[in-house]
Amino acid sequence: MKCRAIFLLLSGIFALLISINTACEFNPHRQGQWLYESHCANCHMEDGTGLANIIPSLHQSPLLRNETIHQTACLIRYGIRTPDPLNPEEEIYPMPPIPDLSKTEISNILNYIGNHFDNRAGYINPVELNSILSQCPNATERKW
Ligand code: HEC
Repeated sequence: MKCRAIFLLLSGIFALLISINTACEFNPHRQGQWLYESHCANCHMEDGTGLANIIPSLHQSPLLRNETIHQTACLIRYGIRTPDPLNPEEEIYPMPPIPDLSKTEISNILNYIGNHFDNRAGYINPVELNSILSQCPNATERKW
């Protein structure tokens, strides 16, 4: 009987420790993830897989590498329209600009997607982002 009480007490403490540990789980990209889910996931999907032939997948994306991540910053602020090769006046399916996101919010999103979905882009801070955004080509002239 005594042993059983001790066992129950110990399992209670164990369960408590597990739940505390889960609640405190370290997540350095919490705001980035939240912003991604509210601004991007409706198109690119919560797991970043996109939508076949319409919305590109963000997994191992060529635009989420150290040397290209600045293009994605411009793309979030100004949108992107890849012209349809058969009809250059029309874009295939544009990504709309999201001008309301602040520089801190854009850098948090970049740091989240740049280090998730099998990407390894490193980190960008809002000061770097400031100079990146000031050098963005005009959205309508973009060709990548
Ligand atoms: C309305 C749908 C939509 C939303 C919302 C959206 N995107 Fe996109 N995204 C697209 C489309 C469509 C493209 C391809 C555009 C093209 O090439 O013309 C694209 C392209 C991209 C690319 C380039 C991928 C590649 O390999 O070419 C990245 C990176 C990206 N989006 C990230 C984001 C992020 C981050 C957000 C949120 C801040 C976001 N997108 C919100 C539709 C969307």
